[in-house]
Amino acid sequence: MPYVIPGRFTDKVAFITGAGSGIGRATALRLAAEGAEVFVHDVNPESLAESVSMITAAGGTAVSRVGDVCERSECFDAIAEAVEAFGRLDVLVNVAGIAGAFHFTDMTEAQYRRMAAVNMDAPFFFCQAAVPHLLASDGNIVNIASNAGLMGQAYTTAYCMTKGAVVQLTRSLAMEYAKTKIRVNAIAPGAIETNLTHNFQIPADIDFELMTPYMGYRGQGEADDIAELVALVAAPGSTNIHGAIFSSDRGVTAG
Ligand SMILES: NC(=O)c1ccc[n+]([C@@H]2O[C@H](COP(=O)([O-])OP(=O)(O)OC[C@H]3O[C@@H](n4cnc5c(N)ncnc54)[C@H](O)[C@@H]3O)[C@@H](O)[C@H]2O)c1
Repeated sequence: MPYVIPGRFTDKVAFITGAGSGIGRATALRLAAEGAEVFVHDVNPESLAESVSMITAAGGTAVSRVGDVCERSECFDAIAEAVEAFGRLDVLVNVAGIAGAFHFTDMTEAQYRRMAAVNMDAPFFFCQAAVPHLLASDGNIVNIASNAGLMGQAYTTAYCMTKGAVVQLTRSLAMEYAKTKIRVNAIAPGAIETNLTHNFQIPADIDFELMTPYMGYRGQGEADDIAELVALVAAPGSTNIHGAIFSSDRGVTAG
């Protein structure tokens, strides 16, 4: 884990969703390594327990909760438990997400509703639950969007829609809370090597040429690339960063 800044998050409490894998795990490890007490959340108990072991083995402090972010009540209960556990909340990082490629007309209602619930509804409800606590601490939110929220991509219409919504959630909250000290930002990663990309299902009969505009030329990044940016954006000293959407995509959205 390069470029760790020890003590940057001392006395801060961070809540990370999707912390059992990939970007969420890397973010939890990073913020804990920089001194934050972290509350980690995921639907997968085994992988979440592994994340907690990794954090504590590295000398960090973590409390975990297993839950499905599709339930609005889970979003509120989890934030309440974090505040109960640590007495405050300084940083919310909305990471949990799912992806998949479909011919537009083949995606079922159940697949569509689940993607909308995890990727779009959950960040909305986590933000609702967290804002009162963040107002008390002058804290901040980092939402993980995607390059898919900034450009049209063939075969991933629903995913693009949900990530576009995360971008707009971020900007709208930035405006609504413009007169407070809360900061709200988003990061839009390009392809990152995680379980999400390893398990990405693509229909066999698609036209691959239509996917080349969003594949890029420089391959995939690593979860730690995004964790490092989360730490920079969420850091107490980053007071000038508000309402921003940061691309970390090896140039995919540049062209
Ligand atoms: N990997 C990429 O290429 C990439 C690119 C752009 C954006 N993103 C976004 O980054 C975020 C993290 O992705 P990742 O690549 O680390 O994926 P990942 O699959 O490695 O991790 C996602 C985590 O979210 C959890 N999760 C999924 N559904 C959940 C639910 N209903 N309730 C609670 N937890 C749930 C999973 O169990 C998993 O631990 C996602 O929002 C994804 O859309 C990823």
